[in-house]
Amino acid sequence: MIDKILSDSRYIEKLNKINDIESERYYCKHDLSHSREVVRILTALSKSRELNNYEELSAIMGYLHDIGRADDYDGMHNKCSSEFARVLLKEYEFDNDSTNIICYAIDNHSGRMPLNDIYTYIRENTVEENVNETWANLLRIADQLSRDCYKCEAASSCRWLPEEKTIEAWKC
Ligand SMILES: [Fe+2]
Ligand SMILES: [Fe+2]
Repeated sequence: MIDKILSDSRYIEKLNKINDIESERYYCKHDLSHSREVVRILTALSKSRELNNYEELSAIMGYLHDIGRADDYDGMHNKCSSEFARVLLKEYEFDNDSTNIICYAIDNHSGRMPLNDIYTYIRENTVEENVNETWANLLRIADQLSRDCYKCEAASSCRWLPEEKTIEAWKC
């Protein structure tokens, strides 16, 4: 499934558009390497919680969560990403329940937490009652931990709060 998405001409076109928009961007980019890092971390977090089909869901969420920036860079990129995900997954006849989990997580991936809360969430291997909420939280955490604030030259003027900035590469 993820191979089909990554080689889909619409996906590639959107990715190229984001790269063009961000060619002069000083702050974090939303390119393929950002997505890869989110996939890597999300896979580890969901694996340790033994979530169903964690590898495939992590890959789809990670690679698609920011793709809507091609259509609406600063505004509703979550919505644009999840709408595009729904179109692709329906075409590829991906199962409905998993599609809903993916789209809910993408819709709700914005926002950051203090690093201490994230580490508690990881240490305690927290799982919410609702699987949708678990995936949404894990995607948000993976997105935040994917950034290398501790070595970022833009960190001093970045709008992230000091307690949200990462202090090490998150290894998994
Ligand atoms: Fe995003
Ligand atoms: Fe992101």
